[in-house]
Amino acid sequence: MRIYRALNYSDMSRKAANILSAQVILKPHCVLGLATGSSPLGVYRQLIEWYKKGDIDFSEVTTINLDEYAGISKDDPHSYRYFMKENFWSHVNIDPDRINIPDGTQTEEEDECIRYDRVIASSGGIDMQLLGLGRNGHIGFNEPGGAFDKDTHCVSLTESTIEANKRFFEREDDVPRKAYTMGIRSIMQARRILVIASGARKAGIVREAFFGPVTPMVPASVLQLHNNVTLVGDEGALSMI
Ligand code: F6R
Repeated sequence: MRIYRALNYSDMSRKAANILSAQVILKPHCVLGLATGSSPLGVYRQLIEWYKKGDIDFSEVTTINLDEYAGISKDDPHSYRYFMKENFWSHVNIDPDRINIPDGTQTEEEDECIRYDRVIASSGGIDMQLLGLGRNGHIGFNEPGGAFDKDTHCVSLTESTIEANKRFFEREDDVPRKAYTMGIRSIMQARRILVIASGARKAGIVREAFFGPVTPMVPASVLQLHNNVTLVGDEGALSMI
Protein backbone atom coordinates (compact mmCIF):
# COMPACT_ATOMS: atom_id res chain seq x y z
CA MET A 1 0.00 0.00 0.00
CA ARG A 2 1.13 3.51 -0.78
CA ILE A 3 0.26 6.30 1.60
CA TYR A 4 0.32 9.93 0.56
CA ARG A 5 0.22 12.48 3.35
CA ALA A 6 -1.70 15.64 2.46
CA LEU A 7 -1.73 18.86 4.43
CA ASN A 8 -5.47 19.35 4.54
CA TYR A 9 -8.72 18.52 2.73
CA SER A 10 -7.98 20.53 -0.39
CA ASP A 11 -4.46 19.12 -0.67
CA MET A 12 -5.89 15.59 -0.24
CA SER A 13 -8.47 16.32 -2.93
CA ARG A 14 -5.85 17.62 -5.36
CA LYS A 15 -3.52 14.66 -4.79
CA ALA A 16 -6.35 12.16 -5.27
CA ALA A 17 -7.63 14.02 -8.35
CA ASN A 18 -4.10 13.85 -9.78
CA ILE A 19 -4.06 10.08 -9.40
CA LEU A 20 -7.50 9.74 -11.02
CA SER A 21 -6.65 12.05 -13.87
CA ALA A 22 -3.40 10.17 -14.52
CA GLN A 23 -5.55 7.05 -14.85
CA VAL A 24 -7.82 8.78 -17.38
CA ILE A 25 -4.91 10.21 -19.35
CA LEU A 26 -3.10 6.85 -19.51
CA LYS A 27 -6.27 4.95 -20.43
CA PRO A 28 -8.93 7.30 -21.86
CA HIS A 29 -11.52 4.49 -22.06
CA CYS A 30 -10.96 3.45 -18.42
CA VAL A 31 -13.62 2.41 -15.94
CA LEU A 32 -13.74 4.50 -12.79
CA GLY A 33 -15.53 3.30 -9.67
CA LEU A 34 -16.93 6.35 -7.91
CA ALA A 35 -18.14 7.18 -4.42
CA THR A 36 -20.41 9.79 -2.88
CA GLY A 37 -20.16 11.47 0.54
CA SER A 38 -18.19 14.42 1.80
CA SER A 39 -14.73 12.92 1.19
CA PRO A 40 -14.80 12.95 -2.64
CA LEU A 41 -16.51 16.33 -3.10
CA GLY A 42 -13.18 18.17 -3.36
CA VAL A 43 -11.83 15.55 -5.76
CA TYR A 44 -14.80 16.10 -8.06
CA ARG A 45 -14.42 19.88 -7.82
CA GLN A 46 -10.76 19.58 -8.79
CA LEU A 47 -11.48 17.24 -11.72
CA ILE A 48 -14.17 19.64 -12.97
CA GLU A 49 -11.70 22.52 -12.79
CA TRP A 50 -9.10 20.61 -14.82
CA TYR A 51 -11.78 19.52 -17.31
CA LYS A 52 -12.84 23.15 -17.80
CA LYS A 53 -9.22 24.10 -18.42
CA GLY A 54 -9.06 21.42 -21.11
CA ASP A 55 -6.59 19.27 -19.20
CA ILE A 56 -8.73 16.15 -18.92
CA ASP A 57 -11.28 14.50 -21.18
CA PHE A 58 -13.95 12.13 -19.86
CA SER A 59 -15.65 11.37 -23.18
CA GLU A 60 -14.54 7.73 -23.25
CA VAL A 61 -14.66 7.08 -19.51
CA THR A 62 -17.20 4.71 -17.96
CA THR A 63 -18.23 5.32 -14.36
CA ILE A 64 -19.69 2.78 -11.95
CA ASN A 65 -20.90 4.09 -8.61
CA LEU A 66 -20.55 2.10 -5.45
CA ASP A 67 -23.99 2.43 -4.00
CA GLU A 68 -27.45 3.96 -3.85
CA TYR A 69 -30.22 4.17 -1.28
CA ALA A 70 -33.08 1.73 -1.83
CA GLY A 71 -36.64 3.01 -2.13
CA ILE A 72 -35.64 6.46 -3.28
CA SER A 73 -36.60 8.04 -6.59
CA LYS A 74 -33.96 8.97 -9.14
CA ASP A 75 -34.74 12.67 -8.87
CA ASP A 76 -34.84 12.76 -5.09
CA PRO A 77 -32.17 15.26 -3.99
CA HIS A 78 -31.08 12.72 -1.37
CA SER A 79 -30.34 10.05 -3.95
CA TYR A 80 -26.73 9.34 -4.80
CA ARG A 81 -27.63 9.66 -8.47
CA TYR A 82 -28.69 13.26 -7.80
CA PHE A 83 -25.52 13.88 -5.76
CA MET A 84 -23.33 12.63 -8.59
CA LYS A 85 -25.22 14.65 -11.20
CA GLU A 86 -24.97 17.83 -9.15
CA ASN A 87 -21.38 17.41 -8.07
CA PHE A 88 -19.71 15.79 -11.04
CA TRP A 89 -21.48 14.28 -14.04
CA SER A 90 -23.30 17.38 -15.22
CA HIS A 91 -20.08 19.44 -15.17
CA VAL A 92 -17.89 17.21 -17.34
CA ASN A 93 -18.20 15.51 -20.72
CA ILE A 94 -19.05 12.04 -19.46
CA ASP A 95 -21.32 10.20 -21.88
CA PRO A 96 -24.64 9.67 -20.00
CA ASP A 97 -24.77 6.17 -21.49
CA ARG A 98 -21.56 5.29 -19.70
CA ILE A 99 -22.79 6.33 -16.25
CA ASN A 100 -23.84 3.52 -13.94
CA ILE A 101 -25.37 3.55 -10.47
CA PRO A 102 -27.72 1.05 -8.80
CA ASP A 103 -31.38 1.82 -9.41
CA GLY A 104 -32.82 2.60 -5.96
CA THR A 105 -36.38 2.42 -7.29
CA GLN A 106 -36.10 -1.29 -8.07
CA THR A 107 -38.14 -3.37 -5.66
CA GLU A 108 -36.93 -6.69 -7.07
CA GLU A 109 -33.72 -6.54 -5.07
CA GLU A 110 -32.12 -9.68 -6.41
CA ASP A 111 -32.77 -8.72 -10.03
CA GLU A 112 -31.23 -5.30 -9.52
CA CYS A 113 -28.12 -6.80 -7.92
CA ILE A 114 -27.70 -9.28 -10.76
CA ARG A 115 -28.16 -6.47 -13.31
CA TYR A 116 -25.50 -4.36 -11.58
CA ASP A 117 -22.98 -7.20 -11.39
CA ARG A 118 -23.50 -7.70 -15.13
CA VAL A 119 -22.84 -4.00 -15.71
CA ILE A 120 -19.52 -4.31 -13.85
CA ALA A 121 -18.54 -7.50 -15.67
CA SER A 122 -19.48 -6.22 -19.11
CA SER A 123 -17.49 -3.02 -18.57
CA GLY A 124 -14.37 -5.17 -18.44
CA GLY A 125 -13.85 -4.47 -14.73
CA ILE A 126 -13.05 -1.37 -12.73
CA ASP A 127 -9.63 0.15 -13.38
CA MET A 128 -9.63 2.47 -10.39
CA GLN A 129 -12.07 2.48 -7.50
CA LEU A 130 -12.36 5.62 -5.39
CA LEU A 131 -13.39 4.92 -1.79
CA GLY A 132 -14.29 6.97 1.25
CA LEU A 133 -14.07 5.36 4.66
CA GLY A 134 -17.01 5.13 7.05
CA ARG A 135 -16.17 5.81 10.68
CA ASN A 136 -17.18 2.24 11.50
CA GLY A 137 -14.89 0.97 8.73
CA HIS A 138 -17.56 0.50 6.09
CA ILE A 139 -16.70 0.81 2.42
CA GLY A 140 -19.60 1.34 0.08
CA PHE A 141 -22.43 0.24 2.33
CA ASN A 142 -20.62 -2.90 3.43
CA GLU A 143 -21.19 -2.66 7.14
CA PRO A 144 -19.21 -4.39 9.94
CA GLY A 145 -19.91 -8.09 10.23
CA GLY A 146 -20.81 -8.64 6.56
CA ALA A 147 -19.12 -11.36 4.54
CA PHE A 148 -16.09 -10.52 2.40
CA ASP A 149 -17.29 -12.66 -0.52
CA LYS A 150 -20.28 -10.61 -1.61
CA ASP A 151 -21.01 -8.99 -4.95
CA THR A 152 -23.72 -6.35 -5.29
CA HIS A 153 -26.39 -6.78 -2.62
CA CYS A 154 -29.06 -4.90 -0.74
CA VAL A 155 -28.18 -4.12 2.88
CA SER A 156 -29.93 -2.82 5.97
CA LEU A 157 -27.99 0.19 7.21
CA THR A 158 -26.58 0.15 10.74
CA GLU A 159 -27.63 2.68 13.36
CA SER A 160 -24.22 4.38 13.17
CA THR A 161 -24.52 4.85 9.39
CA ILE A 162 -28.09 6.17 9.73
CA GLU A 163 -26.81 8.52 12.43
CA ALA A 164 -23.90 9.69 10.22
CA ASN A 165 -26.16 10.22 7.19
CA LYS A 166 -28.99 12.01 8.93
CA ARG A 167 -27.19 15.31 8.45
CA PHE A 168 -28.32 15.23 4.84
CA PHE A 169 -32.01 14.75 5.70
CA GLU A 170 -34.57 16.91 7.46
CA ARG A 171 -35.53 14.21 9.95
CA GLU A 172 -33.78 11.03 11.02
CA ASP A 173 -36.93 9.10 10.05
CA ASP A 174 -36.39 10.19 6.45
CA VAL A 175 -33.02 8.43 6.18
CA PRO A 176 -33.54 5.30 4.06
CA ARG A 177 -32.97 2.08 5.99
CA LYS A 178 -31.69 0.04 3.07
CA ALA A 179 -29.24 0.51 0.25
CA TYR A 180 -27.82 -1.25 -2.77
CA THR A 181 -24.07 -1.58 -2.63
CA MET A 182 -21.26 -3.19 -4.52
CA GLY A 183 -19.99 -5.97 -2.27
CA ILE A 184 -16.50 -6.41 -0.86
CA ARG A 185 -15.73 -8.94 -3.58
CA SER A 186 -16.76 -6.49 -6.31
CA ILE A 187 -14.60 -3.77 -4.73
CA MET A 188 -11.61 -6.09 -4.32
CA GLN A 189 -11.79 -6.97 -8.02
CA ALA A 190 -10.96 -3.38 -9.01
CA ARG A 191 -7.44 -3.21 -10.46
CA ARG A 192 -6.47 -0.23 -8.33
CA ILE A 193 -8.09 1.23 -5.23
CA LEU A 194 -7.77 4.83 -4.13
CA VAL A 195 -8.91 5.55 -0.58
CA ILE A 196 -9.32 9.10 0.66
CA ALA A 197 -9.71 10.17 4.27
CA SER A 198 -9.85 13.58 5.84
CA GLY A 199 -10.05 14.88 9.37
CA ALA A 200 -9.17 13.64 12.84
CA ARG A 201 -12.58 11.91 13.09
CA LYS A 202 -11.23 9.32 10.63
CA ALA A 203 -7.87 8.83 12.38
CA GLY A 204 -8.96 5.87 14.51
CA ILE A 205 -10.56 3.96 11.67
CA VAL A 206 -7.63 4.65 9.33
CA ARG A 207 -5.33 3.01 11.89
CA GLU A 208 -7.68 0.07 12.46
CA ALA A 209 -8.36 -0.49 8.78
CA PHE A 210 -4.79 -0.37 7.52
CA PHE A 211 -2.74 -1.42 10.54
CA GLY A 212 -5.15 -3.60 12.54
CA PRO A 213 -6.20 -7.20 11.96
CA VAL A 214 -8.08 -8.05 8.78
CA THR A 215 -11.61 -8.75 9.97
CA PRO A 216 -15.18 -8.42 8.68
CA MET A 217 -15.79 -6.29 11.79
CA VAL A 218 -13.72 -3.61 10.02
CA PRO A 219 -14.74 -4.08 6.37
CA ALA A 220 -12.05 -1.72 5.03
CA SER A 221 -9.36 -3.90 6.62
CA VAL A 222 -9.82 -6.30 3.69
CA LEU A 223 -8.02 -3.71 1.55
CA GLN A 224 -4.77 -4.87 3.21
CA LEU A 225 -5.14 -7.97 1.01
CA HIS A 226 -5.40 -6.00 -2.24
CA ASN A 227 -2.18 -5.58 -4.18
CA ASN A 228 -2.70 -2.03 -5.41
CA VAL A 229 -4.13 0.31 -2.81
CA THR A 230 -3.27 3.97 -2.44
CA LEU A 231 -4.38 5.92 0.60
CA VAL A 232 -4.41 9.70 0.45
CA GLY A 233 -5.09 11.17 3.87
CA ASP A 234 -4.66 14.57 5.40
CA GLU A 235 -2.81 15.34 8.63
CA GLY A 236 -5.92 14.75 10.75
CA ALA A 237 -6.82 11.40 9.20
CA LEU A 238 -3.24 10.13 9.36
CA SER A 239 -2.56 11.46 12.84
CA MET A 240 -2.71 8.02 14.51
CA ILE A 241 -0.44 6.12 12.16
C1 F6R B 1 -20.36 6.60 -0.42
C2 F6R B 1 -20.02 5.44 0.37
C3 F6R B 1 -19.64 5.52 1.80
C4 F6R B 1 -18.77 6.72 2.15
C5 F6R B 1 -18.42 6.71 3.63
C6 F6R B 1 -17.63 7.94 4.03
O1 F6R B 1 -20.67 6.24 -1.75
O2 F6R B 1 -20.08 4.39 -0.15
O3 F6R B 1 -18.97 4.34 2.14
O4 F6R B 1 -17.61 6.70 1.39
O5 F6R B 1 -19.59 6.67 4.40
O6 F6R B 1 -18.45 9.05 3.92
P1 F6R B 1 -17.88 10.53 4.02
O7 F6R B 1 -16.98 10.72 2.85
O8 F6R B 1 -19.09 11.41 3.94
O9 F6R B 1 -17.16 10.62 5.32
